[in-house]
Amino acid sequence: RVFRQAVDASRSVAQQIAAMIRGRAAEGRYCVLGLATGSSPTGVYDELVRMHREEGLSFQNVVTFNLDEYYPMQPAELQSYVRFMNEHLFDHVDIKPENVHVPDGTLAEGDVADYCRRYEAQIAEAGGIDLQLLGIGRTGHVGFNEPGSGKNSRTRMITLDRVTRRDAASDFFGEDNVPRRAITMGVGTILDARQVVLMAWGEGKASIVARAVEGEISTIVAASFLQEHPNAQFVLDQAAAEQL
Ligand code: GLP
Repeated sequence: RVFRQAVDASRSVAQQIAAMIRGRAAEGRYCVLGLATGSSPTGVYDELVRMHREEGLSFQNVVTFNLDEYYPMQPAELQSYVRFMNEHLFDHVDIKPENVHVPDGTLAEGDVADYCRRYEAQIAEAGGIDLQLLGIGRTGHVGFNEPGSGKNSRTRMITLDRVTRRDAASDFFGEDNVPRRAITMGVGTILDARQVVLMAWGEGKASIVARAVEGEISTIVAASFLQEHPNAQFVLDQAAAEQL
């Protein structure tokens, strides 16, 4: 779906999410959302917060699982995805704290593998992800599934690509300060979501979007696996859709 501007696209995605939350609430069921960080989803979060304030959209029946977190990372640090999610969404809506899950960047290294298995189990116990929001990195990563990530990969520790670390350099006041690793849901975890919505804005994303949508399906571009998903949408502004 191509929109003239990111703001219109974000509004449309937020409406889709709100309809799902309300539909589930009417049935007395939880709505399980997979959430992303980065600049791409912020317009959606802004709109959801507005709907909470002005239209009474409740998050009492919402369970969330975030895609990824840098490792190591303390929640209070400026670049932490816990902090990002609190600032952009969770602090402004009525979600129950126990229903929020963001990968833990504070663990001892030896505990990470077990933790990742538990993260997967928690997603399964919640009934699986109803809707997964995604951005896309210039390497074609979704979450932090860098080139080489297999279709069946699950939540795990990964090493960040050089391009990704360079793109994150300004957030960390220099490339040398960007963590070398991260914890991320796997490609397989993402493909298990019943619905996937990937958002990309601006000409800087146009070439990787074209490779993901029309290129060969391969581990070189993790987002290309979405071509095999039965219910995946790419939501783009005109600039990001330019090379399609
Ligand atoms: C980071 C995140 C990804 C995100 C990507 C793109 O790498 N871990 O989940 O999709 O950035 O970020 P942006 O939306 O700011 O372009």
